[in-house]
Amino acid sequence: MDTMDYGTFEASLERSVRLERDLQKNPARYRVLTGDRPTGRLHVGHLFGSLQNRVRLQDMGVPIFVVIADYQVLTDRESAPDIADNVHQLVLDYMAVGLDPESGRTFIFPHSQVPELNQLLLPFLTLVTNAELNRNPTVKEEIQASGQQQINAGMYTYPVHQAADILFCKASVVPVGKDQLPHLELTRTIARRFNSRYGGGKPIFPEPQPLLSSAPVILGLDGSQKMSKSRNNTIMLSSSEDETAQGIKRAKTDVDRLITYDPANRPEVANLLLLLSLCTDTPPETLAMEIGEGGASQLKTRLTEAMNEYLRPLRKRRRELEKEPEFIRQVLRTGIEHAREVAQQTLTETREAMNMAYLADNTGQQSNPGDA
Ligand code: TRP
Repeated sequence: MDTMDYGTFEASLERSVRLERDLQKNPARYRVLTGDRPTGRLHVGHLFGSLQNRVRLQDMGVPIFVVIADYQVLTDRESAPDIADNVHQLVLDYMAVGLDPESGRTFIFPHSQVPELNQLLLPFLTLVTNAELNRNPTVKEEIQASGQQQINAGMYTYPVHQAADILFCKASVVPVGKDQLPHLELTRTIARRFNSRYGGGKPIFPEPQPLLSSAPVILGLDGSQKMSKSRNNTIMLSSSEDETAQGIKRAKTDVDRLITYDPANRPEVANLLLLLSLCTDTPPETLAMEIGEGGASQLKTRLTEAMNEYLRPLRKRRRELEKEPEFIRQVLRTGIEHAREVAQQTLTETREAMNMAYLADNTGQQSNPGDA
């Protein structure tokens, strides 16, 4: 097999800038695949970090597949009793922020409901080595963080499953954060190896490109770490205005009264300024100067007001959608149906390439009722 390295951040960043330019010129030439694990409701870290970028791409006219990676939830825990509700809440959050399946260009589906996608996993597993899977830096970190004594094989192989998520629809662009770059490199490697092993000169899979977002990483309200539900340091999209105020009130700051924007030395204050900046479209330095001796209490008052105002229309939409569970289910049904059609085509192509289309007749038409 050809070699794979997990790549450098700088090289990916440079390619992303060029990709972004072409996306703006030719949106319809691309297909974006992105997704999340359904582990809970989404927060403003997701909003500013990835969701707004997806909506932006959608509104530019790029077709978007959003995979809800429910099987992947099982890699670092033994059971997931909340999974059905988490999927439902995730769709509510997606639609509240502006992902719009009714546009006919945005499709949302849990990968567990797309058997043809999951079948791609089997040949893909034969295209990577154990050594390569063991080297994946993101998986290594997740193993550490899981605190589990025994690591199941899904933890090592979910990046191959993720390759199936991406390649089943021949996505050309995957918007990602830095931590997902190794998975994308693996996906590109699988595409390349499949093509060279089975393509017979005609590539079946494109090599998808990562689109790194320029969005800042939002820290938690405790200032020290990434915003994440498990750390209880979030502002949830679905929170009430009171809950938002309470959370911001408890946010960690420091002892200096004078407010300055200094991310390296004053990460907690800088993070609150950054959030305020994102809600008001004003540079954080300007806001720091305006607040000055007003101190942390003024900063928090302003952030509470600005955040609640910024989220108000989104929260209103979310509450309206909450009243229509059948509509949400219909969104998923439509997404699943479309994903299955696309996946079926790709599966057929791969079987023909691998010489496994045993029942196809000599016109190239397949009659294979057992596929699903
Ligand atoms: N691994 C991603 C995460 O942990 C979720 C995911 C699954 C994904 N399949 C994907 C992301 C395909 C992008 C593309 O967040």
